[in-house]
Amino acid sequence: MQKGENTQVASAPGQIFLFGEHAVVYGEPALSTAIGLRTRVEAKPNDDNKLVVSSRGFGDLRGVIEKKGGKWKISKKVGDISELDFVTKAIELTFNYLEKGRGLNIEIKSKLPGGSGLGSSSAVTTATIASISSALGETLAKDEILQLAYDSEIAVQGSASRTGVSAATYGGFLEITGDEITKLEEISGIEIVIGYTGNYANTKKMVDKVGELKESRPKIANPLLKTIGKCTKIGIESLMNRDIERVGALMNANQNLLRGLGVSSSELDKLIEAAKSSGAIGAKLTGSGGGGCMIALGTESIDEISDAIREEGGNPIRGKIGVEGLKY
Ligand code: MEV
Repeated sequence: MQKGENTQVASAPGQIFLFGEHAVVYGEPALSTAIGLRTRVEAKPNDDNKLVVSSRGFGDLRGVIEKKGGKWKISKKVGDISELDFVTKAIELTFNYLEKGRGLNIEIKSKLPGGSGLGSSSAVTTATIASISSALGETLAKDEILQLAYDSEIAVQGSASRTGVSAATYGGFLEITGDEITKLEEISGIEIVIGYTGNYANTKKMVDKVGELKESRPKIANPLLKTIGKCTKIGIESLMNRDIERVGALMNANQNLLRGLGVSSSELDKLIEAAKSSGAIGAKLTGSGGGGCMIALGTESIDEISDAIREEGGNPIRGKIGVEGLKY
């Protein structure tokens, strides 16, 4: 092992969209907050040019790390290749950015269910880049890690916004518009319940679906996306003024617009209705939709909302929002 290379750990949080998913891919603003469910990645250099990834939830993989034609690559991959696409892409991009690479044993532990729409791929990508660069004796700045994580998401997913990787890196409450990331002051006094449908949210499929609607029916899709952007702007203003009733009403409007884009699902709609009938001020899906999670905004009725989500077959998740970003 060379000097400065040793086992390194990094962790990054998942995130929810209070407003603006999908529209943010087309330059509209979104409001995201990091949640207290983290992904931890441990990277340990080995001396035989092997990549060994083990994880609970994402799968396992083995491969060979080599430099071919001046580029670092992971070849001879066996195991859960597509489940770990984000991880292997992030490793290749990081090695090429640092212009060095080596064998690594990587262990991933995540509190975020994969495909839950809670930013699990952004959290694992960001924490992987931070831990492997440190294991190679290099400390990257947060904005370098964010850029590499974003490039990995684009390589795997096609189109993506910077929302997930920004929340994973910086934490807190963020307004994202294109590549502009604005850290907002802490928003206190709001309680969010996440309801997990248990169904897989396929981000690429849902992003492509909206892209196709935009192509085939621009007169319908474009105003919907623009109006989502307006909900985000007024939603942020209302949050800053602590006008919680208005925030809830805007979340409901955002959900109706997302339904118009065809990205909700009957399971999400069921959990959203259950939350609203048991006191939620507003509720909407979060992330790409099609499965994954919804969120509900409550005040006093937070226990009733959680019970209602559970009774409808969902898994209620409660926890902190606005948590710290990447730790490494
Ligand atoms: C997926 O979590 C959120 C989308 O807006 C895509 C993205 O922002 O990259 C659908």
